[in-house]
Amino acid sequence: MYLNREEESILQGERGPGLQKAMELLVALGKVYEADGLVPISSAHLSGASYKTIGEGGIAFLEDISRDVKVKVPSTLNPLGMDRERWSEMHVPEHFASRQLKIIDLYARMGVRTSCSCTPYTGENVPRFGDHVAWAESSALSFVNSMIGARTNREGGPGALAAALVGKTANYGLHMTENRRPTVIIEAQIEEDPFQYTLLGQAVGKAIGNGIPFFRGIRPDLECAKTLAAAMAASGAVAMFHVEGLTPEAVSQDVDGLERVSIGRDELRVAHDSLQQIEEPELLAFGCPHLTVKEMKEMAEFLRDKRKTKDVDIWFCTSREVREACPDEVAVLERFGPVLADTCMVVAPIETHYKNSGSNSAKAANYLPTLCSQKVRCDSFQRLMEAVL
Ligand code: F3S
Repeated sequence: MYLNREEESILQGERGPGLQKAMELLVALGKVYEADGLVPISSAHLSGASYKTIGEGGIAFLEDISRDVKVKVPSTLNPLGMDRERWSEMHVPEHFASRQLKIIDLYARMGVRTSCSCTPYTGENVPRFGDHVAWAESSALSFVNSMIGARTNREGGPGALAAALVGKTANYGLHMTENRRPTVIIEAQIEEDPFQYTLLGQAVGKAIGNGIPFFRGIRPDLECAKTLAAAMAASGAVAMFHVEGLTPEAVSQDVDGLERVSIGRDELRVAHDSLQQIEEPELLAFGCPHLTVKEMKEMAEFLRDKRKTKDVDIWFCTSREVREACPDEVAVLERFGPVLADTCMVVAPIETHYKNSGSNSAKAANYLPTLCSQKVRCDSFQRLMEAVL
């Protein structure tokens, strides 16, 4: 792996131990994946923000590395284990809250923007076509690879942080044009409905693992694309997709001779069945990935004249930016449950309080059983809500 003189000097520790550690990590990753060198990045998005996922070991790592370094490129941070202000409404224990606040401080010390959303591409951190970036958060990196045409691998938290600190990442995988071509054609027959997109993602991820699908027959808007990306990344390990006639790198000639997989009503039913374990959740959580303004408006519209009659907790998870942008919708939704920022149902310690939860997101329904010890129900927003009205 080629390093120029400056990169070599960082590796030798001439710019301080924090940067040296970051460079060591990038070089180690580069060697594993046979990168030819480093490539400059224009932004980073970091995961590893929740105390639940990184624990004391993660805090020790961040304390150590943050002593003498700052990020070199605009860098945003994934959701935390709690809403910074409203954590007690989430039943988050006090000790957890204080350690979580410590983690935010450590990232802020390095110059990371602590807006803590998994959809930074809707506002705060929007790459351009062709940009090399280092993004963790599987749904977000798939979205920017696919819908924008930025270039990132499926980074882990430490790798993305190292890249942010150095301003470069190892050049391999999806940074190279030849690795971004589709590997399978998906002939999709679905309705243009967000819940159908999450089931489509569930089915495709299961069917193709870490392939790159080329979709025919769909036209997702931003909300459906984020849902699709999230579900495919969770049920499989899809980091990029193409949509014929829509995504910037979808070239029809690239798919000549590729295997075709059809996904229609039967496959969606199987996908749906695979995500049902219970009928009556104690917690309904929406916003995986974080809700957009459009989704907040649609949910508020649906709920405007309704009332909750069942004793079920409801969370709406979004970014701070979106929460502030739609006060009227927040007022409607808050009659049903808190509109939480900074966090989500998967990275919050919900298992301390709930055992059964429901979501309209296949990504959440994949992770809630494994990361939060939940039994789940996955259904559309309307059907989940109708059960508690
Ligand atoms: Fe975002 Fe949490 Fe889902 S980070 S994509 S809301 S699991």
